[in-house]
Amino acid sequence: MFTALLVAVFLLVSRISGLSPTFQACQLQKPAGVSPLVGCPAGTILVSQTHSEAVFSSVQKAVLSLPKTGKAVILVEEGEYHETINITRTDPVILLGQLSTHTAFDPAGNASSRNLVQIWDNKFVQTGMDDAQSAMLIVAPSFNASLIGAGPTGAPLQPLFGNVDFKAYNIDFQNRAANFSISQALVTDISYANASFYGCTFASYQDTWYTGRNASTYVVDSVIFGQTDYLFGFGTAWFQNVVLANRACGGGIVAWKGTNLTDAPNNRYGAYISDSTIMRSPDANATTVTAGKCFLGRPWNDLATTVYLNTFMDNSIEAVGFEPFDSSRPVIMNTTFYAEYKSHGPGGNTTLRVSDHILDAAQASDFTIDKVFLEVPKWIDFEYQI
Ligand SMILES: *[C@@H]1O[C@H](CO)[C@@H](O)[C@H](O)[C@H]1NC(C)=O
Ligand SMILES: *[C@@H]1O[C@H](CO)[C@@H](O)[C@H](O)[C@H]1NC(C)=O
Ligand SMILES: *[C@@H]1O[C@H](CO)[C@@H](O)[C@H](O)[C@H]1NC(C)=O
Ligand SMILES: *[C@@H]1O[C@H](CO)[C@@H](O)[C@H](O)[C@H]1NC(C)=O
Ligand SMILES: *[C@@H]1O[C@H](CO)[C@@H](O)[C@H](O)[C@H]1NC(C)=O
Ligand SMILES: *[C@@H]1O[C@H](CO)[C@@H](O)[C@H](O)[C@H]1NC(C)=O
Ligand SMILES: *[C@@H]1O[C@H](CO)[C@@H](O)[C@H](O)[C@H]1NC(C)=O
Ligand SMILES: *[C@@H]1O[C@H](CO)[C@@H](O)[C@H](O)[C@H]1NC(C)=O
Ligand SMILES: *[C@@H]1O[C@H](CO)[C@@H](O)[C@H](O)[C@H]1NC(C)=O
Ligand SMILES: *[C@@H]1O[C@H](CO)[C@@H](O)[C@H](O)[C@H]1NC(C)=O
Repeated sequence: MFTALLVAVFLLVSRISGLSPTFQACQLQKPAGVSPLVGCPAGTILVSQTHSEAVFSSVQKAVLSLPKTGKAVILVEEGEYHETINITRTDPVILLGQLSTHTAFDPAGNASSRNLVQIWDNKFVQTGMDDAQSAMLIVAPSFNASLIGAGPTGAPLQPLFGNVDFKAYNIDFQNRAANFSISQALVTDISYANASFYGCTFASYQDTWYTGRNASTYVVDSVIFGQTDYLFGFGTAWFQNVVLANRACGGGIVAWKGTNLTDAPNNRYGAYISDSTIMRSPDANATTVTAGKCFLGRPWNDLATTVYLNTFMDNSIEAVGFEPFDSSRPVIMNTTFYAEYKSHGPGGNTTLRVSDHILDAAQASDFTIDKVFLEVPKWIDFEYQI
């Protein structure tokens, strides 16, 4: 029975190229009476609100139970988990969301339609709080290292590094503070860490995604929902085959900060969005107008880098593309690097763009994963194929 099930699972797995070949067998729900951990790496920890085999009903309690060293794998069963996840340990952590055999392999599916696990919290920034304190997923070595601060340079640099390889597969991360832009309400704060995400969703309105100082992040086959500056940060972030879902428009989609080459030699800090889709969110309020109102970006500081490669843009996009930060910094300085290559779709007409960097193929070849991370990142799972 066991063997038959495993053979069936693996046959199914081997037929498709999507999802994670390494973890699918573990992630797929099993029939009643079969352990959910069948097919999982040895030592995988089960988190469940209902299953008798689970030691933990909270993801964060499982995280806090981890020994200081060694690679950890946590399988999260179908369900809604109201909690903030805070990963300070250095060694690899992998969070796996359970999947259903009924929806995981739908060729027309997306992260929203596949995922069975929602982890959520509902904090938002009120007077005296740092943006970091609203995040529901923090990957940073310490509280000070998670801080974001304000202004062109932000919170003080910390002499620390946190997780070297955090991964999450097929999980919805949500900040449910409000169904509108109440204030900064982050989903992620990834600072002084390397992290990657596969088939996940990230949902909020303002400042959904943050890649902090000294951080490198990679997101693939995922959906990011937001309104204002909903990809922001300092570090190097690559978004591959994602959907950027505009729930409304405000600020820019991206608001990045750069660091000069004196302070961080050779750095290629920036937000890079490749082979992706920008569209009005399927869950945007029917009364919200997005047509022609969303900017691709605004510069959080004058060294910001934001590059869109081969990305479909619906009519949400404002024809000039990018805008200055605000009335106190009314000019996009020429130290800001805004570029596009092969933008397409109704919002992809670059004729009126303020950016003078409409790249040709040779110029675009300088923007690859290996080049912006200055290596082939060892912390990315390149076996995950869309
Ligand atoms: C995901 O798929 C569902 C079901 O087909 C669809 O309703 C939804 O619009 C899709 N979401 C995105 C962001 O494409
Ligand atoms: C995350 O955990 C660390 C270590 O326990 C703690 O110092 C820090 O305050 C936590 N961060 C948040 C935002 O709760
Ligand atoms: C965190 O930063 C505060 C303010 O800069 C400082 O007083 C405190 O000592 C720092 N804590 C640690 C553990 O470095
Ligand atoms: C990372 O942070 C340290 C300070 O903790 C800094 O000296 C170093 O330059 C940073 N590395 C990069 C690549 O920015
Ligand atoms: C947001 O909308 C959903 C669906 O309509 C609702 O269930 C939820 O309570 C709303 N959240 C808040 C914070 O109002
Ligand atoms: C780099 O930025 C620092 C402040 O962080 C500044 O002191 C320094 O002059 C800058 N260097 C250059 C070459 O712009
Ligand atoms: C949509 O927006 C209108 C106008 O702001 C508001 O009254 C309504 O509650 C919103 N609907 C939802 C589902 O949030
Ligand atoms: C960019 O700014 C510098 C400093 O203000 C100026 O000298 C230079 O001419 C500018 N370059 C362009 C192409 O505008
Ligand atoms: C692109 O926009 C320009 C300026 O609005 C317009 O003249 C041109 O026809 C557009 N091109 C396409 C292919 O729609
Ligand atoms: C984090 O990732 C970057 C880019 O791939 C890499 O240069 C760096 O060595 C990694 N840091 C650690 C501590 O593994």
